[in-house]
Amino acid sequence: MNIIWHKKSRQYHLYNDKISYIMGISPVGELGGIYFGKRIHDKEEFSYADYRFALPNVTVDPDTESYSRELNRQEYPSFGTGDFGAAAFEVEQSNGSRISSFTYKSHSIFKGKTPLNGLPATYAGEDEAMTLEVTLEDDVAKMTLVLSYTIFDKYPVVARHAVFRNNGTETVKLTRALSMCLDLPDRDYRWMQFSGAWARERIPQEKELSAGSVMIESKRGVSSANQNPFVIIKRPGTDDFSGDAFGFSFVYSGNFLAQAECDTFGRTRILMGINPERFGWPLEKGEEFETPEVVMAVTGSGLNDLSQTYHSLYNNNLVRGKWKNRPRPVLINNWEATFMDFTEERILSIAEKAKEAGVELFVLDDGWFGERNDDYAGLGDWIENPDKLPQGMKGLARKMNAMGLKFGFWIEPEMVNPDSNLFRRHPDWALQTPGRKASLGRHQLVLDYSREEVVDYVFDMLKKVISDAPISYIKWDMNRSLTEVYSAELPPQKQGMVYHKYVLGVYRLYEKLRAEFPEILFESCSSGGNRFDAGMLYYAPQAWCSDNTDAIDRIKIQYGTSYGYPISSIGAHVSAVPNQQTGRNVSITTRANVAYFGAFGYELDLNHITDEEFEEVKRQIEFMKENRELFQFGRFYRLRSPFEADQAAWIVVSEDGKRAILALYCMRSNVNMLPGFLKLAGLKEDALYTLKGEEYYGDELMNLGVPVGRLAADGFAIGRDFVSYVEVLEAK
Ligand code: GLA
Repeated sequence: MNIIWHKKSRQYHLYNDKISYIMGISPVGELGGIYFGKRIHDKEEFSYADYRFALPNVTVDPDTESYSRELNRQEYPSFGTGDFGAAAFEVEQSNGSRISSFTYKSHSIFKGKTPLNGLPATYAGEDEAMTLEVTLEDDVAKMTLVLSYTIFDKYPVVARHAVFRNNGTETVKLTRALSMCLDLPDRDYRWMQFSGAWARERIPQEKELSAGSVMIESKRGVSSANQNPFVIIKRPGTDDFSGDAFGFSFVYSGNFLAQAECDTFGRTRILMGINPERFGWPLEKGEEFETPEVVMAVTGSGLNDLSQTYHSLYNNNLVRGKWKNRPRPVLINNWEATFMDFTEERILSIAEKAKEAGVELFVLDDGWFGERNDDYAGLGDWIENPDKLPQGMKGLARKMNAMGLKFGFWIEPEMVNPDSNLFRRHPDWALQTPGRKASLGRHQLVLDYSREEVVDYVFDMLKKVISDAPISYIKWDMNRSLTEVYSAELPPQKQGMVYHKYVLGVYRLYEKLRAEFPEILFESCSSGGNRFDAGMLYYAPQAWCSDNTDAIDRIKIQYGTSYGYPISSIGAHVSAVPNQQTGRNVSITTRANVAYFGAFGYELDLNHITDEEFEEVKRQIEFMKENRELFQFGRFYRLRSPFEADQAAWIVVSEDGKRAILALYCMRSNVNMLPGFLKLAGLKEDALYTLKGEEYYGDELMNLGVPVGRLAADGFAIGRDFVSYVEVLEAK
């Protein structure tokens, strides 16, 4: 890994063993793009990559009379000076002008990576990464722009963000401040996004790029289940096993924009950052604005490889604290068993049975506080309800501990019900626009986290409950989108700050709680997977993946989630049947066979299953405990897509390749079909593996494949929906 500054050509080459990122100072002094891809040899200059001639109908720089911003690749373009593509940023100046040109002043290259201010980001030690910060200035707007690039030693990854500073005396306003732009020289790509809704999150969708833009965004205040802030650009024909692709992952949890724009010359511009819609950030004299980070990754060997890069990078350089790379406890959550209708006695009876089965952690979900007996009241009043918890959280937690269980509980700290003491005392603490009614979502309003006092107040309330009891885990929920966004505290010209300040407030509360309670395992949640993003993983190493706990639907949801996020981060539970969301009846075996590939747990009352099923649950938990390191942190390969066939398969492989766990699911049986072969991946070619008592070579399993008929003796082909097989492969 190195970052070279070629002084004569004024070009930078960031590289490691796998990739090169090359750019340089353009003839007009701005930063121009040259190359991002597989590692290439270093050279003094790559200036031939610039176009120094004008075409008809392009505008050129008046000093050089030949350099056109439209024809040359830009690193962080503005609009209005000859580049007619989508801009990375825009600054409104005090005279009304939105024209700017930031030109090179200096740079610094250093080992490691500096943290972002109040924002989640990947981190790295001095031997893990190198960073280049290029400082550019606009003398007219009197502003500085620092573009930051970190290259990681072990990963084919470059992390980027930008910082603006107002050095003048007049206030300026950022109306657009994306985190990155990447100009690619052609448009022979397919765009892949992960879209959905509540209960059907992160479903992969593809389209071909052609002239014009493809764009996804969130305007909900959260990253959203509708569009995930992770996209892939891949060559036609690239699949999970081979081909070129780029990944773009936004380390942020609020409104975002991701765009691919193809210009008239057949080139592609990729942009990602905070959604400019409703964004406006005034910078007064001396103030700075820092954009969140985008993590760009490259592969030449298919999408499994790209996903594994994100899995390892996020497990090693994004997740922090005690739970980093640590197998997660097997938990039981009472939500689908009781909803809000419970007594301490009922909770303890669920816990006792769970303990007998081998569960390690009990999670008390919604309904333990205030007047919270349904979802019309109580949010905001984080004080135990004595009818449900007669000796408070402390009493219950101690009883759990005495039983040998760790204990944690649910909160939804960003919300308030109009029917709550908090709202009655502080009606102006909810986001709402003066003179207008505030829309409700699940009968609740959103607290104005752009205000420090609101965040501090909630922190104090939560701190009291948490520090009073032995708490090991917190599930932090967020159950509605933001509407009528307006903060009573900010003047009119600062209302464009509220969406982002809200997210910063959420991050601040997380950081305060983490600092106060470093041992606690946080799980983020947002009506299931409505805020499943890399930003959240910096604070909460796992996220409830979806409120849809139906195993068959979960295959698709977890499969889609695996493209951008590690298996350790995917909260996955075995729940009761018929399933609450789909009414489907799936065996307890298949329910666990899907949930194993995640942060595993149960979400039902184990007193209500058959003795036979209970014995199986005991075996499942034992199996999970033996293998959770491999399930959660092994190298994960998607093998067969549930979106292309009635079967799905995936495998996790240990670091040394000697142990693997294969899963094969039949979502829908096909009559009168041959079972066929399933090709495995990630194994050692020469090793001899035992699978269901038979021996196979690694190369045999990866090229000829496993005869599915041997895994599924009674045959996927002959009429049984929802069966599944999880098998351990062990090399000699
Ligand atoms: C959301 C979560 C669920 C559960 C409920 C409680 O829907 O996604 O898991 O916690 O809230 O109200």
